[in-house]
Amino acid sequence: MPKRDLISPDDLSPDELTAILDLAAEMERDAPGDLCAGKILATLFYEPSTRTRLSFESAMLRLGGRTLGFADAQTSSVAKGETIADTARIVQAYADIIVMRHPIEGAAKVAADYASVPVINAGDGGHMHPTQTILDLYTLKKLKGTLEGLVVGLCGDLKYGRTVHSLAPVLARLGAKLYCIAPPELAMPEECLREARAAGAVLGETPDLDAVIGHLDALYATRVQKERFPSSEEYERVKGTYVVTAALLSRAKPDMLVLHPLPRVDEIAYEVDDDPRAAYFRQAANGVPVRMALIAALLGLAHDVIAPEARAPEPSAPGRARPQAAREACANPRCVTNHEHHLTPQFAPVPDEPRLVHCMYCDHEVLA
Ligand code: CP
Repeated sequence: MPKRDLISPDDLSPDELTAILDLAAEMERDAPGDLCAGKILATLFYEPSTRTRLSFESAMLRLGGRTLGFADAQTSSVAKGETIADTARIVQAYADIIVMRHPIEGAAKVAADYASVPVINAGDGGHMHPTQTILDLYTLKKLKGTLEGLVVGLCGDLKYGRTVHSLAPVLARLGAKLYCIAPPELAMPEECLREARAAGAVLGETPDLDAVIGHLDALYATRVQKERFPSSEEYERVKGTYVVTAALLSRAKPDMLVLHPLPRVDEIAYEVDDDPRAAYFRQAANGVPVRMALIAALLGLAHDVIAPEARAPEPSAPGRARPQAAREACANPRCVTNHEHHLTPQFAPVPDEPRLVHCMYCDHEVLA
C-alpha cells in the first residue's frame, strides 16, 4: 500500500481532518486495545519533549503496539555524523511508523522522502507542529462545539513558535477568526498568515493583549522560544512580554478558553490554573486520543479515514525526477538543505503570488 506521511497539516484533506477528529473522539470513548498489536512505533527525538513523545508512546501502547527510539540524539549515531536520510532508511527496517522531532526546519520531510514507512512530523524547528495543531482543533471543537466563527487570539512568540505557524491557516480554513497578538519583533511570518489574510480571517494584529481580550472566545498563549533566538540579548528584550493573570481574565468573556501548547515558563500565572477557563492541561491530555487516531490512520488500520495516497508525489523524493533547482540555496539558514548538503534545494510557486517562490522543505519565501 502506498504510504502517507504527516509533515504539514496540509497533508490531510479537509474530509480527512474531520475523519481524524471523529476517530480521536471514538478513541477517547472506547479505544480498541489490540488495533496495533504486532506494530512498532519509533520515536526519533533530536530535541527535548515531554508531551509529544510520551503521548505518542502512550497512544501506541494503548493500541496494543510497541515503541522504540531515542530521546537524546547524542546517544544515537547522529553523534557520529549520520544524516537524517540514512537514519530514516535504517529505522524503516526496525519500525512500522516513525515519529520525528528535529531542531532543523524541513527535517521531517527529508525523513519522509527517504523512509518507506509513514513519517509523522513531531515538530521541525520553528517551522511546523502538525499533530499539535490537530489536538488544538480537537480541544477547541470539544469544548466549544464548533470552530466556525470562533474568535481566537494567538499570543506571544508568533515568529519562532511552530505551533501557531501550523494552527493559523487551518483555523482560518475552518471558519475561525484570528487576532495575532505579539510585539513587532515576534510577529507571525507573512507566509504563515497569507492564507488567513486571503480568507479575511485576520481581525487584527496588535501588541496589546489587554485591548482585545474581551473579544476572544479562546486565547492561545505561547512560550517565547528562547532556543530559537540568534542571541540572548534579543531574547532578553522580549521575554515576559505577556503574562495571563487572574486580573487579565476578569476582563475576558466568562467562557473564554485559555489554551497553551505547553511547556509554559511564565506566560500563564499559576493562579489561573484553578479558573474553569484554563484548558491547557485538558488540551495536553487530548494528545493521546488524537495521536491514537493518527497512528491508526497512517498505518492503514482505520478504514475510510485517509486515502492511501492523496498527496501529489514530491519531486524531491528519492527515485523520482528532480526538477532544476531554482537557485543555489535556500536563504533560510535553519533550512535542512543548508545542513544536509546531499539535498538539492527545491522551490515551488506561491499560489496567487507570481513574484514569489517557497522552499519545499522549510516554506521560506523569496523572490522568484
Ligand atoms: N506541546 C509540545 O510540543 O510539548 P513538548 O515539547 O513537551 O512535546
